[in-house]
Amino acid sequence: MPKLKKQYPYYLAGRPLQPNADLQVRDKYSGRVATRVAMGDAAAVEKAIASAHAARDAMSAFTPDARRDVLEHCVRRFRERSEELAHALCIEAGKPIGDARGEVERLVDTFRMAASEATRIGGEVIELQVSERTRGYRGMTRRFPIGACSFITPFNFPLNLVAHKVAPAVAAGCPFVLKPAAKTPIGALIIAEVLAETDLPEGAFSVLPCSNEDAAPLVEDERIALLSFTGGLVGWDMKARAGRKKVVLELGGNAACIVDADPGLDLDHVVERLVSGAYYQSGQSCISVQRILAHADIYTALRRKLKAAVAKLPMGDPRDEDTFIGPMIDEEAARRVEGWIASARKSGARKLAGGPREGNMLPAWLLEDVPREADLYRKEAFGPVAMMEPFDDFEQALDTVNDSEFGLQAGVFTARLDHAMRAWERLKVGGVVIGDIPSFRVDNMPYGGVKQSGLGREGVRYAIEDMTEQRLLVIRDAG
Ligand code: SIN
Repeated sequence: MPKLKKQYPYYLAGRPLQPNADLQVRDKYSGRVATRVAMGDAAAVEKAIASAHAARDAMSAFTPDARRDVLEHCVRRFRERSEELAHALCIEAGKPIGDARGEVERLVDTFRMAASEATRIGGEVIELQVSERTRGYRGMTRRFPIGACSFITPFNFPLNLVAHKVAPAVAAGCPFVLKPAAKTPIGALIIAEVLAETDLPEGAFSVLPCSNEDAAPLVEDERIALLSFTGGLVGWDMKARAGRKKVVLELGGNAACIVDADPGLDLDHVVERLVSGAYYQSGQSCISVQRILAHADIYTALRRKLKAAVAKLPMGDPRDEDTFIGPMIDEEAARRVEGWIASARKSGARKLAGGPREGNMLPAWLLEDVPREADLYRKEAFGPVAMMEPFDDFEQALDTVNDSEFGLQAGVFTARLDHAMRAWERLKVGGVVIGDIPSFRVDNMPYGGVKQSGLGREGVRYAIEDMTEQRLLVIRDAG
């Protein structure tokens, strides 16, 4: 397996700098320090913002084909370095190697999509001749880069959730400053290393691990035109501090999946998909399956099969090809989920599968009869835990899905077209997936939530829309 370097620089205004190696990045399975990273301070953040602000015109003038070439270079390099990237994820995030390789494939896809969008950012012709008064006027719009952007990314997809901000920014012509998660900065730093091989204009990008305090200007500084944050509910506080800048928030969820009772339902397939959706990368995904609502007619059979499948999920070293459940990001996170499970059980929840925690290793848990008011039910678990409940009536199941502060994605296994359409109409979420789990995502889909789950949509084209502004041109015919 490729090794991590001993230390990694940060990237300030496009250049690698190693003023210190203050940030220790641990191997999440062994707990040992795996590498050290340069940590930015308030002065570095100020310099990064000033450079991004100064690079606005150069980035805007950097032609669409040149932006595409930068993105295509990244695609080539990520492919060449794919095992190194997957290994980095495996170490810094504790992500099982199979999931890590999957994330590298998605990183490549996201950059590939951005490369093809870079030369397609068009506009529209608007008919202005709507009355005698407007005879001889023509209108058209084009999209122009919004300016300097700041990006703050989470630990759970250290490559692809960085890609969802960086690749559209390059395609749109926006300089940016990115703060990666302190626990998993390596993926973003390798992306920065590859970007530094290109001829992006001077100062166009910075990737700076730094403390939340030092990062405050990324949220507050008026030279930043757009803040895009993926993470927890703290995003709403950021929005309140963000002043006039545009804000995109991809926050959490406690995704539900409905399983309808259809005559030809393939329960084994449903179980396979639910297990994957609930427990991949230990449930540390905003669209991991947390609540399973199964029709009463199939509830018992589904419970039996799910219970058996969950109980035998292999847990261990994420480097082993067979491992399905690896470590959680840290012991504190594992303790929190363990605590929520214990408190739900005290209030009547019944264990179907699960076992004791050791450090940050928490086995896959499945429960039923979890009280609606339990944290485990109402909050975002972000861990390897799911719960089941039966329903009799499809409309009632839709109400139950909506009985949540969150609304990111929902899944519905149904063969009935009317149920599929009702789900799409009634579910208060950003996306409804029929015939599969809520955890399904292709990186060009509009992705984002309603209610506490966030604001705005990512997905390459939608992010580019946010990172560009329409400018109107009106031309009056001569004479
Ligand atoms: C997330 O956790 O919000 C991202 C999920 C994904 O990209 O699959």
